[in-house]
This record gives sequence, structure tokens and C-alpha cells, in this order.
Amino acid sequence: MIYRTNSFRIVFILNLILCSFGCKMNLTDRAFKAGDLILGGLFPVHSYCSNCCKGQCGDLRSLDALYFAEAMMYAIDETNRNSSILQGISLGFEIFDYCSKDVIALEKASNFLPSCWKKPLSPVVGVVGPYSSSVGLQVSNLLGLFKVPHVSYGATSPLLSDKSRFKYFIRTVPSDAVRAQALVDLLLKNETKYVSVLYSDDEFGREGKKYFTQAAKERGICVGITRALPQGHTVLKFDDIVMDISQKINAQVIVLFCSKSDISLLFTSVKKFGKERFFRWLVGGDYAEMSVYLNGNEDIAKNIVLCSPRNEKSTRFMEWRNRNNVSHSPWFSEIELKYETSKYRPENEGKTISADLYIQSVINSVYAFAHALDKMCKTYCANNSNAATCLKEKSLIKPYCWNIF
Ligand SMILES: *[C@@H]1O[C@H](CO)[C@@H](O)[C@H](O)[C@H]1NC(C)=O
Ligand SMILES: *[C@@H]1O[C@H](CO)[C@@H](O)[C@H](O)[C@H]1NC(C)=O
Ligand SMILES: *[C@@H]1O[C@H](CO)[C@@H](O)[C@H](O)[C@H]1NC(C)=O
Ligand SMILES: *[C@@H]1O[C@H](CO)[C@@H](O)[C@H](O)[C@H]1NC(C)=O
Ligand SMILES: *[C@@H]1O[C@H](CO)[C@@H](O)[C@H](O)[C@H]1NC(C)=O
Repeated sequence: MIYRTNSFRIVFILNLILCSFGCKMNLTDRAFKAGDLILGGLFPVHSYCSNCCKGQCGDLRSLDALYFAEAMMYAIDETNRNSSILQGISLGFEIFDYCSKDVIALEKASNFLPSCWKKPLSPVVGVVGPYSSSVGLQVSNLLGLFKVPHVSYGATSPLLSDKSRFKYFIRTVPSDAVRAQALVDLLLKNETKYVSVLYSDDEFGREGKKYFTQAAKERGICVGITRALPQGHTVLKFDDIVMDISQKINAQVIVLFCSKSDISLLFTSVKKFGKERFFRWLVGGDYAEMSVYLNGNEDIAKNIVLCSPRNEKSTRFMEWRNRNNVSHSPWFSEIELKYETSKYRPENEGKTISADLYIQSVINSVYAFAHALDKMCKTYCANNSNAATCLKEKSLIKPYCWNIF
């Protein structure tokens, strides 16, 4: 017993020393607002940091990522002020930053499971998020198991369309299978019949390539080279690829299904060969934050066509945001630090590529819940003097504990 205690102490002290030297100040991981009913939220506000101490994350991911989380707060604020929807019932939120990492997202998502052991303050009726498909696939397994409905504003993988596996998942963005067709439409419209395809060797890349090559083949577009980008992050490894695609002189349009870091390396290599003007790039993917990742290769951007889900600009959100510059967001103060030295300052953001691409999707996700709850309220609680209490009892997530245990 004594021995254990001692070793625990030693570990603890070592940990403390490592932390005090190696880590940033504490970053907030949660934003909360009370309400009759709570919507959970999962957002990648910070990037992941593999060598940070437990509970610490990397830098603010981008201004957009922060906006996504704030868009949820905005939409909830808007529905609360709208007397024709969920009248007399206030929505609150509990938003977690999952630091762009699947295991952290799972840990945070566990806060939204109907708890068997302690009663939550207010019931979490559903979850908005997460953002990416790879995280979505994992989180959806967990939330689905506990019958917690969740609406993603950014996960586009066709795998998530499988209703038998992901019963409690819906999304406010189209599947990549639809995007593949759109890319082919665009190529045919431009009378491009010969392309090459490069993809990152991850779920997103492989799926994107699969659906695109299938759609291209069906509609008479030839695919010259199809290559997975090399794993491991050096420009050198990308040089071979650039040589290869350069040899197919008739395939000057290159279709990309790549991670942002791979795109950045690829373009660096393209620049090294002086091929900036040779290729045209057709990019299928989530490039809301593209501007941040082009670093130093902005001249190539002129030859890029992006194909992302259509979204309306939300001017109302931006107005709300400016009005509330003392914002609900605990991450707000980090913006100044991050953008102080960067050219991607908030005021330039609107002019760079697709800054608010997913903001409307986030807002739509909140409205999906608001309308669902409103309908439930009118169906079950119309004659109830206290609709909020009634809805809590009829909540989408009933306590399933006694079914499971
Ligand atoms: C970080 O959080 C821990 C625990 O909440 C606290 O003890 C510590 O003082 C905080 N450090 C800073 C720099 O705020
Ligand atoms: C309130 O919500 C209803 C239903 O969604 C919508 O038609 C109406 O435009 C909203 N009103 C305001 C002021 O936003
Ligand atoms: C479409 O064709 C025109 C003329 O050949 C070219 O300038 C343009 O970049 C092409 N667009 C795409 C997306 O390939
Ligand atoms: C909020 O924004 C307005 C207009 O941009 C500005 O005048 C005001 O000082 C800001 N308030 C705070 C607390 O930053
Ligand atoms: C509410 O009350 C009205 C009139 O008393 C009745 O017709 C209706 O069926 C009730 N609705 C519900 C959901 O109980």
C-alpha cells in the first residue's frame, strides 16, 4: 500500500514537472449556457497536439473553426428569441472542443450519454456535430448505441449514409457521393475528358477517389493516373508524384481528394518544379479552411477550382457576432493572440476562400433540432401548462439505462 502510494507520487510529480515546462496555459474545453433543454455540441476548435500533456491541445485551429462553434450559439440565441418556435421553452448548449482528435471527441461525447448514475442538470436532447467524417464515424457508433440523435454540419462520408449502421445520424451537408457527380458534371461542362486523380491514403481520400472514378468512368471521362499520396511528411516524397503527373501532358486537370497538409506539401513540390501554371486543380473536399493551409503557395490558388457543398452566406450570424463582441465563446480571447501576427486576420477572412462555408450548416443543424422539438411539443405537450417539463419527460433521449442493464 505504502509502496503504491509512493510510486503514484513519483509519477505525479514527474508529470507536473513535464507539464510546467512543456505545456501551454490551460485552454477551455467547454462552453455552456443553461436552458430548459440542452443541445450538445462537438467542435474542433483547437488542433491536436501529440506531445502536449493530458488535457492540453494545440493552437486554435482556425478562425472558421471558432466561428462554427459560435454559429451554434447564435442559432440557439435566435430560436430562443423567436416566439413562433418552441414558445416558452429555452434551449441551452453544452459545447465541447474536441481538439480535432477522435479519441478526445469520444471522451467528450460520453458527456452526452443518458447517465445512469447521476441525473444531469438538464437533459441533452441531441448533439450538433462532430465536424469531420473520420471523427463522425466513431462518435456516431457511440451516440447511436445510446440512442442519442446527432446532426453533423461537416461529415460528408458516404459511409455515414448507411442507415442500418448509423440510425441516429443525420447531416446538413451532402454526401461525397453527390460531390463526385458534381465534379464530373463540371468536367463535362468544360469539355475536359482526361484527368488524373491524387488522393490521401485515408478514409476521406479513398472514398473520394472511389466515388469519383466510378462516376467518371460511367460518363466517359478517362482517368490517366490514380495515385495515393505518400504517407509521411516530406516534400521530397511528393516529387515523384509531380514528375509522374507531369508526363501525362494531356491530363492537365488534376482531381484532388487530399488532406490539407498533403495539399500543402504537394503544392510546395509543384512550385519546386516550376509547374504552377501547368496544372489546373479540381479539389473535392472540405476546404473551408483552405486559405490557412496554402501557406506560401498562394499563386497556385489561381488555378484551383473548389467543389464544396453549397452554402448561403449568413450575414445575420456575422451581424450577431459583431454585436456580441463580448461573446458567449470562451475561445474568443484566443483570436487576438492567434491573429496578431498572421495575415489571415479576421477582417480579411471574408475575402479569402470560402470562409463561412459550414456556418450555415451549423445553423441548420440547430434548426433541425428546434423544429423537431417544436413538432414534438405540439404533438405531445399542447395541452400541458408547462411545456418544457412535458418535453423533458418525452425527451428524444429517454433514459435507456434500465433497458441496457
Ligand atoms: C490549470 O488548471 C489547473 C486545474 O484546473 C489549475 O490548478 C492550474 O492553476 C491552471 N493553470 C493555469 C496556468 O491557469
Ligand atoms: C421564426 O421562426 C419561424 C419558423 O422557423 C420563421 O418562419 C420566422 O421567419 C422566424 N422569425 C424570425 C424573426 O426569425
Ligand atoms: C475550363 O476550360 C477553360 C478553357 O480551357 C480553362 O481556362 C478553365 O480553367 C477550365 N476549368 C476547369 C475547372 O478545368
Ligand atoms: C464592440 O464592437 C464595437 C464596434 O466594432 C466597438 O465600438 C466596441 O468597442 C466593441 N466592444 C468591446 C467590448 O470590445
Ligand atoms: C388537447 O385538448 C383538446 C381540447 O380539449 C383536445 O381535443 C386534444 O385532443 C388535446 N390534445 C392532446 C395532445 O392531448
